[in-house]
Amino acid sequence: MILGIETSCDETAASVVRDGKGMLSNIVYSQMVHNKYGGVVPELASREHIRTLVPIVRAALEEAKISSEKIEGIAVTYGPGLVGSLLIGLSFAKALSYSLDVPLMGINHIEGHIFANFLEHPELSAPFVCLVISGGHSNLVYVARKGSYELMGQTRDDAAGEAFDKVAKVLDLGYPGGPAIDEVSRQGDPEFFKFPRAHLEEGSFDFSFSGLKTAVALYVSKLSREELKSNRVDTAASFQEAVVDVLVEKGIRACLTKNTRKFALAGGVARNRRLRERFRAEAEKHGVEVFCPSPILCTDNAAMIAAAGDFHLSKGEKSGLDLNAIPYAPLTPAQ
Ligand code: KG4
Ligand code: ZN
Repeated sequence: MILGIETSCDETAASVVRDGKGMLSNIVYSQMVHNKYGGVVPELASREHIRTLVPIVRAALEEAKISSEKIEGIAVTYGPGLVGSLLIGLSFAKALSYSLDVPLMGINHIEGHIFANFLEHPELSAPFVCLVISGGHSNLVYVARKGSYELMGQTRDDAAGEAFDKVAKVLDLGYPGGPAIDEVSRQGDPEFFKFPRAHLEEGSFDFSFSGLKTAVALYVSKLSREELKSNRVDTAASFQEAVVDVLVEKGIRACLTKNTRKFALAGGVARNRRLRERFRAEAEKHGVEVFCPSPILCTDNAAMIAAAGDFHLSKGEKSGLDLNAIPYAPLTPAQ
Protein backbone atom coordinates (compact mmCIF):
# COMPACT_ATOMS: atom_id res chain seq x y z
CA MET A 1 0.00 0.00 0.00
CA ILE A 2 1.91 3.04 -1.30
CA LEU A 3 1.08 6.69 -0.70
CA GLY A 4 2.06 8.81 -3.69
CA ILE A 5 2.69 12.55 -3.45
CA GLU A 6 3.10 14.90 -6.43
CA THR A 7 3.78 18.64 -6.18
CA SER A 8 6.20 19.30 -9.05
CA CYS A 9 4.22 22.08 -10.74
CA ASP A 10 0.70 23.42 -10.25
CA GLU A 11 -1.15 20.27 -9.22
CA THR A 12 -1.20 19.20 -5.58
CA ALA A 13 -1.90 15.47 -5.63
CA ALA A 14 -1.99 12.44 -3.36
CA SER A 15 -3.03 8.86 -4.03
CA VAL A 16 -3.03 5.43 -2.44
CA VAL A 17 -2.15 2.54 -4.76
CA ARG A 18 -2.22 -1.14 -3.82
CA ASP A 19 0.24 -3.58 -5.44
CA GLY A 20 1.22 -1.03 -8.07
CA LYS A 21 -2.09 -1.17 -9.89
CA GLY A 22 -5.10 -0.89 -7.58
CA MET A 23 -5.90 2.81 -7.41
CA LEU A 24 -7.70 3.18 -4.06
CA SER A 25 -7.75 6.96 -4.32
CA ASN A 26 -6.47 9.65 -6.66
CA ILE A 27 -6.96 13.21 -5.45
CA VAL A 28 -5.76 16.00 -7.73
CA TYR A 29 -6.13 19.67 -6.92
CA SER A 30 -5.36 21.86 -9.95
CA GLN A 31 -4.36 25.27 -8.66
CA MET A 32 -6.56 27.98 -10.12
CA VAL A 33 -4.57 30.91 -8.79
CA HIS A 34 -2.41 30.99 -11.97
CA ASN A 35 -5.23 31.35 -14.48
CA LYS A 36 -5.36 35.12 -14.39
CA TYR A 37 -1.60 35.34 -15.08
CA GLY A 38 -1.75 33.10 -18.15
CA GLY A 39 0.94 30.75 -16.80
CA VAL A 40 2.26 29.17 -13.62
CA VAL A 41 3.72 31.64 -11.08
CA PRO A 42 6.28 29.51 -9.17
CA GLU A 43 6.07 31.32 -5.82
CA LEU A 44 2.27 31.16 -5.82
CA ALA A 45 2.44 27.46 -6.69
CA SER A 46 4.66 26.75 -3.64
CA ARG A 47 2.27 28.62 -1.35
CA GLU A 48 -0.73 26.75 -2.71
CA HIS A 49 1.05 23.42 -2.11
CA ILE A 50 1.74 24.42 1.50
CA ARG A 51 -1.90 25.37 1.98
CA THR A 52 -3.45 22.31 0.36
CA LEU A 53 -1.07 19.36 0.75
CA VAL A 54 -2.19 18.16 4.20
CA PRO A 55 -5.93 18.21 3.37
CA ILE A 56 -5.21 16.52 0.01
CA VAL A 57 -3.25 13.69 1.68
CA ARG A 58 -6.02 13.32 4.29
CA ALA A 59 -8.60 13.14 1.51
CA ALA A 60 -6.53 10.48 -0.30
CA LEU A 61 -6.40 8.33 2.87
CA GLU A 62 -10.10 8.87 3.53
CA GLU A 63 -11.13 7.95 0.01
CA ALA A 64 -8.93 4.84 0.20
CA LYS A 65 -10.60 4.08 3.54
CA ILE A 66 -7.32 3.45 5.31
CA SER A 67 -5.50 5.00 8.25
CA SER A 68 -1.92 6.21 7.86
CA GLU A 69 -0.63 3.13 9.76
CA LYS A 70 -1.57 0.98 6.77
CA ILE A 71 0.84 2.87 4.48
CA GLU A 72 3.85 0.67 3.64
CA GLY A 73 5.87 3.17 1.66
CA ILE A 74 5.83 6.76 0.43
CA ALA A 75 6.65 7.73 -3.16
CA VAL A 76 7.27 11.37 -3.97
CA THR A 77 8.36 13.35 -7.03
CA TYR A 78 11.88 14.77 -6.53
CA GLY A 79 12.23 16.25 -10.05
CA PRO A 80 12.08 17.56 -12.69
CA GLY A 81 9.86 20.48 -11.75
CA LEU A 82 9.76 23.81 -9.94
CA VAL A 83 12.22 23.67 -7.09
CA GLY A 84 10.00 25.39 -4.51
CA SER A 85 7.02 23.21 -5.38
CA LEU A 86 9.10 20.02 -5.34
CA LEU A 87 10.52 20.90 -1.93
CA ILE A 88 7.06 21.14 -0.33
CA GLY A 89 6.05 17.61 -1.36
CA LEU A 90 9.50 16.21 -0.67
CA SER A 91 9.82 17.69 2.83
CA PHE A 92 6.35 16.53 3.74
CA ALA A 93 7.00 13.02 2.40
CA LYS A 94 10.28 12.76 4.32
CA ALA A 95 8.64 13.83 7.59
CA LEU A 96 5.78 11.38 7.10
CA SER A 97 8.11 8.52 6.15
CA TYR A 98 10.20 9.21 9.27
CA SER A 99 7.22 9.44 11.61
CA LEU A 100 5.47 6.34 10.20
CA ASP A 101 8.80 4.50 9.91
CA VAL A 102 8.16 3.40 6.33
CA PRO A 103 10.54 3.64 3.33
CA LEU A 104 10.71 6.75 1.16
CA MET A 105 11.14 6.51 -2.60
CA GLY A 106 11.98 9.55 -4.72
CA ILE A 107 10.44 9.30 -8.20
CA ASN A 108 11.39 11.03 -11.43
CA HIS A 109 8.28 12.84 -12.70
CA ILE A 110 8.77 11.63 -16.29
CA GLU A 111 9.04 8.04 -15.10
CA GLY A 112 5.80 8.65 -13.20
CA HIS A 113 4.05 9.73 -16.42
CA ILE A 114 5.23 6.52 -18.12
CA PHE A 115 3.86 4.46 -15.21
CA ALA A 116 0.38 5.97 -15.68
CA ASN A 117 0.17 3.51 -18.58
CA PHE A 118 0.97 0.49 -16.37
CA LEU A 119 -1.77 1.52 -13.96
CA GLU A 120 -4.45 1.23 -16.59
CA HIS A 121 -2.93 -1.26 -19.00
CA PRO A 122 -1.45 -4.14 -17.00
CA GLU A 123 -1.04 -5.97 -20.31
CA LEU A 124 1.52 -3.40 -21.50
CA SER A 125 5.01 -4.80 -21.18
CA ALA A 126 8.41 -3.45 -22.23
CA PRO A 127 10.01 -2.91 -24.66
CA PHE A 128 7.95 -0.05 -26.04
CA VAL A 129 8.31 3.60 -27.01
CA CYS A 130 6.60 6.27 -24.90
CA LEU A 131 5.98 9.87 -25.87
CA VAL A 132 5.74 12.02 -22.75
CA ILE A 133 4.24 15.38 -23.68
CA SER A 134 3.19 17.97 -21.13
CA GLY A 135 3.50 21.62 -20.22
CA GLY A 136 7.14 21.19 -19.26
CA HIS A 137 8.40 18.25 -21.30
CA SER A 138 8.35 16.59 -24.70
CA ASN A 139 10.34 13.38 -24.40
CA LEU A 140 10.48 10.40 -26.69
CA VAL A 141 11.58 7.51 -24.49
CA TYR A 142 12.50 3.94 -25.34
CA VAL A 143 11.45 1.80 -22.38
CA ALA A 144 13.77 -1.19 -22.67
CA ARG A 145 12.53 -2.58 -19.37
CA LYS A 146 10.58 -1.10 -16.49
CA GLY A 147 13.08 1.23 -14.81
CA SER A 148 15.46 1.31 -17.79
CA TYR A 149 15.05 4.20 -20.20
CA GLU A 150 16.72 5.60 -23.28
CA LEU A 151 15.92 9.21 -24.15
CA MET A 152 15.58 9.11 -27.94
CA GLY A 153 14.54 12.72 -28.37
CA GLN A 154 13.41 15.82 -26.55
CA THR A 155 12.41 19.37 -27.26
CA ARG A 156 15.12 21.87 -28.10
CA ASP A 157 12.98 24.83 -27.04
CA ASP A 158 9.30 24.91 -26.01
CA ALA A 159 7.53 21.83 -24.71
CA ALA A 160 4.45 20.74 -26.70
CA GLY A 161 2.04 21.87 -23.96
CA GLU A 162 3.89 25.16 -23.62
CA ALA A 163 3.34 25.79 -27.34
CA PHE A 164 -0.39 25.05 -26.92
CA ASP A 165 -0.56 27.45 -23.95
CA LYS A 166 1.32 30.25 -25.72
CA VAL A 167 -0.63 29.95 -28.97
CA ALA A 168 -3.90 29.92 -27.02
CA LYS A 169 -2.82 33.20 -25.44
CA VAL A 170 -2.16 34.72 -28.88
CA LEU A 171 -5.60 33.53 -30.00
CA ASP A 172 -7.29 34.86 -26.83
CA LEU A 173 -8.44 31.41 -25.84
CA GLY A 174 -7.44 31.62 -22.16
CA TYR A 175 -5.27 29.44 -19.92
CA PRO A 176 -4.53 26.54 -19.85
CA GLY A 177 -4.51 26.65 -23.62
CA GLY A 178 -4.30 22.96 -24.53
CA PRO A 179 -7.87 22.02 -23.60
CA ALA A 180 -9.21 25.24 -25.19
CA ILE A 181 -7.43 24.64 -28.52
CA ASP A 182 -8.51 20.99 -28.46
CA GLU A 183 -12.13 22.03 -27.93
CA VAL A 184 -12.43 24.80 -30.54
CA SER A 185 -10.42 22.86 -33.12
CA ARG A 186 -13.21 20.31 -33.39
CA GLN A 187 -15.10 22.89 -35.44
CA GLY A 188 -12.01 24.14 -37.26
CA ASP A 189 -10.34 23.32 -40.57
CA PRO A 190 -6.88 21.77 -39.96
CA GLU A 191 -5.91 22.56 -43.56
CA PHE A 192 -6.91 26.23 -43.33
CA PHE A 193 -3.32 27.48 -43.00
CA LYS A 194 -0.15 25.45 -43.53
CA PHE A 195 2.04 26.34 -40.54
CA PRO A 196 5.67 25.06 -40.58
CA ARG A 197 6.48 21.56 -39.32
CA ALA A 198 9.93 21.32 -37.73
CA HIS A 199 11.17 17.83 -38.52
CA LEU A 200 14.81 18.94 -37.92
CA GLU A 201 17.78 16.95 -39.32
CA GLU A 202 17.09 13.71 -41.06
CA GLY A 203 16.55 10.91 -38.55
CA SER A 204 16.29 13.27 -35.57
CA PHE A 205 13.82 12.46 -32.81
CA ASP A 206 14.13 15.90 -31.22
CA PHE A 207 11.34 18.45 -31.34
CA SER A 208 11.17 22.19 -31.80
CA PHE A 209 7.94 24.14 -31.40
CA SER A 210 9.13 27.72 -31.00
CA GLY A 211 9.26 28.39 -34.77
CA LEU A 212 5.68 27.20 -35.11
CA LYS A 213 4.60 29.34 -32.17
CA THR A 214 6.26 32.39 -33.75
CA ALA A 215 4.68 31.62 -37.13
CA VAL A 216 1.20 31.61 -35.54
CA ALA A 217 1.96 34.84 -33.64
CA LEU A 218 3.20 36.51 -36.85
CA TYR A 219 0.17 35.36 -38.79
CA VAL A 220 -2.21 36.61 -36.09
CA SER A 221 -0.40 39.95 -35.79
CA LYS A 222 -1.32 40.71 -39.40
CA LEU A 223 -5.03 40.08 -38.84
CA SER A 224 -7.56 42.72 -37.90
CA ARG A 225 -9.76 42.11 -34.86
CA GLU A 226 -12.62 40.98 -37.10
CA GLU A 227 -10.37 38.71 -39.15
CA LEU A 228 -9.00 37.12 -35.99
CA LYS A 229 -12.53 36.57 -34.75
CA SER A 230 -13.58 34.78 -37.90
CA ASN A 231 -10.30 32.86 -38.36
CA ARG A 232 -9.64 31.91 -34.73
CA VAL A 233 -11.07 28.41 -34.82
CA ASP A 234 -9.41 27.48 -38.12
CA THR A 235 -6.08 28.93 -36.98
CA ALA A 236 -6.27 26.88 -33.77
CA ALA A 237 -7.05 23.71 -35.75
CA SER A 238 -4.21 24.40 -38.21
CA PHE A 239 -1.72 24.96 -35.36
CA GLN A 240 -2.86 21.78 -33.62
CA GLU A 241 -2.47 19.83 -36.85
CA ALA A 242 1.12 21.04 -37.25
CA VAL A 243 2.01 19.85 -33.74
CA VAL A 244 0.21 16.54 -34.17
CA ASP A 245 1.84 15.88 -37.59
CA VAL A 246 5.34 16.08 -36.09
CA LEU A 247 4.53 14.10 -32.95
CA VAL A 248 2.86 11.31 -34.91
CA GLU A 249 5.63 11.08 -37.51
CA LYS A 250 8.43 10.92 -34.94
CA GLY A 251 6.55 8.69 -32.52
CA ILE A 252 5.75 6.00 -35.07
CA ARG A 253 9.21 6.23 -36.66
CA ALA A 254 10.78 5.74 -33.22
CA CYS A 255 8.77 2.53 -32.81
CA LEU A 256 9.83 1.21 -36.19
CA THR A 257 13.47 2.15 -35.55
CA LYS A 258 13.44 0.24 -32.28
CA ASN A 259 11.60 -2.61 -33.90
CA THR A 260 8.82 -2.56 -31.36
CA ARG A 261 5.13 -2.57 -32.17
CA LYS A 262 4.01 -0.97 -28.92
CA PHE A 263 3.63 2.73 -28.40
CA ALA A 264 2.40 4.64 -25.35
CA LEU A 265 1.35 8.24 -24.81
CA ALA A 266 1.64 10.12 -21.52
CA GLY A 267 1.42 13.64 -20.07
CA GLY A 268 -1.19 16.40 -20.24
CA VAL A 269 -1.00 16.88 -24.04
CA ALA A 270 -1.80 13.16 -24.48
CA ARG A 271 -5.39 14.17 -23.57
CA ASN A 272 -5.65 15.84 -26.97
CA ARG A 273 -8.37 14.19 -29.02
CA ARG A 274 -6.93 14.88 -32.45
CA LEU A 275 -3.55 13.54 -31.31
CA ARG A 276 -5.01 10.29 -30.00
CA GLU A 277 -7.10 9.87 -33.13
CA ARG A 278 -4.20 10.52 -35.51
CA PHE A 279 -1.83 8.25 -33.55
CA ARG A 280 -4.34 5.40 -33.64
CA ALA A 281 -4.91 5.79 -37.39
CA GLU A 282 -1.20 6.02 -38.29
CA ALA A 283 -0.20 3.22 -35.90
CA GLU A 284 -2.73 0.88 -37.41
CA LYS A 285 -1.09 1.25 -40.83
CA HIS A 286 2.17 -0.07 -39.32
CA GLY A 287 0.70 -2.71 -37.05
CA VAL A 288 1.62 -0.68 -33.97
CA GLU A 289 -0.59 -0.88 -30.87
CA VAL A 290 -1.22 2.42 -29.09
CA PHE A 291 -1.70 2.71 -25.32
CA CYS A 292 -2.96 5.84 -23.64
CA PRO A 293 -3.97 6.52 -20.04
CA SER A 294 -7.42 7.98 -19.41
CA PRO A 295 -7.41 11.82 -19.26
CA ILE A 296 -7.17 12.07 -15.44
CA LEU A 297 -4.00 9.95 -15.50
CA CYS A 298 -2.44 11.93 -18.36
CA THR A 299 -2.41 15.16 -16.37
CA ASP A 300 -0.14 15.37 -13.32
CA ASN A 301 -1.36 13.03 -10.59
CA ALA A 302 0.05 11.07 -7.68
CA ALA A 303 -1.28 7.62 -8.62
CA MET A 304 1.40 7.38 -11.33
CA ILE A 305 4.05 8.36 -8.74
CA ALA A 306 2.77 5.70 -6.32
CA ALA A 307 2.80 3.08 -9.10
CA ALA A 308 6.43 3.89 -9.96
CA GLY A 309 7.24 3.88 -6.23
CA ASP A 310 5.72 0.44 -5.81
CA PHE A 311 7.96 -0.88 -8.60
CA HIS A 312 11.18 0.54 -7.13
CA LEU A 313 10.37 -0.38 -3.54
CA SER A 314 9.52 -3.93 -4.61
CA LYS A 315 13.08 -4.13 -6.01
CA GLY A 316 14.43 -3.16 -2.59
CA GLU A 317 15.38 0.36 -3.64
CA LYS A 318 14.71 3.31 -1.38
CA SER A 319 15.81 6.92 -0.93
CA GLY A 320 17.57 8.45 2.05
CA LEU A 321 16.21 11.37 4.04
CA ASP A 322 18.95 13.46 2.40
CA LEU A 323 17.17 13.19 -0.97
CA ASN A 324 17.05 16.64 -2.56
CA ALA A 325 14.77 18.26 -5.11
CA ILE A 326 16.38 18.27 -8.57
CA PRO A 327 14.63 20.76 -10.92
CA TYR A 328 16.28 19.33 -14.08
CA ALA A 329 16.50 15.69 -13.00
CA PRO A 330 17.37 13.52 -16.00
CA LEU A 331 15.53 10.27 -16.61
CA THR A 332 17.65 7.35 -15.36
CA PRO A 333 19.69 6.13 -18.32
CA ALA A 334 19.25 2.60 -19.63
CA GLN A 335 21.21 -0.02 -17.71
O1 KG4 B 1 1.18 16.79 -17.54
P1 KG4 B 1 0.61 18.13 -17.23
O2 KG4 B 1 -0.65 18.17 -16.42
O3 KG4 B 1 1.63 19.02 -16.44
C1 KG4 B 1 2.98 19.11 -16.71
O4 KG4 B 1 3.75 18.20 -16.25
O5 KG4 B 1 3.33 20.07 -17.41
O6 KG4 B 1 0.40 18.91 -18.62
C2 KG4 B 1 -0.17 20.18 -18.71
C3 KG4 B 1 -0.12 20.63 -20.16
C4 KG4 B 1 -0.57 22.07 -20.36
O7 KG4 B 1 0.37 22.72 -21.20
C5 KG4 B 1 -1.91 21.94 -21.05
O8 KG4 B 1 -2.22 23.02 -21.90
C6 KG4 B 1 -1.71 20.64 -21.82
O9 KG4 B 1 -0.99 19.82 -20.96
N1 KG4 B 1 -3.00 20.01 -22.18
C7 KG4 B 1 -3.40 19.81 -23.45
C8 KG4 B 1 -4.70 19.23 -23.36
N2 KG4 B 1 -5.02 19.09 -22.03
C9 KG4 B 1 -3.96 19.57 -21.33
N3 KG4 B 1 -2.81 20.06 -24.63
C10 KG4 B 1 -3.48 19.75 -25.75
N4 KG4 B 1 -4.73 19.21 -25.74
C11 KG4 B 1 -5.37 18.94 -24.58
N5 KG4 B 1 -6.59 18.40 -24.58
ZN1 ZN C 1 3.78 16.24 -15.78
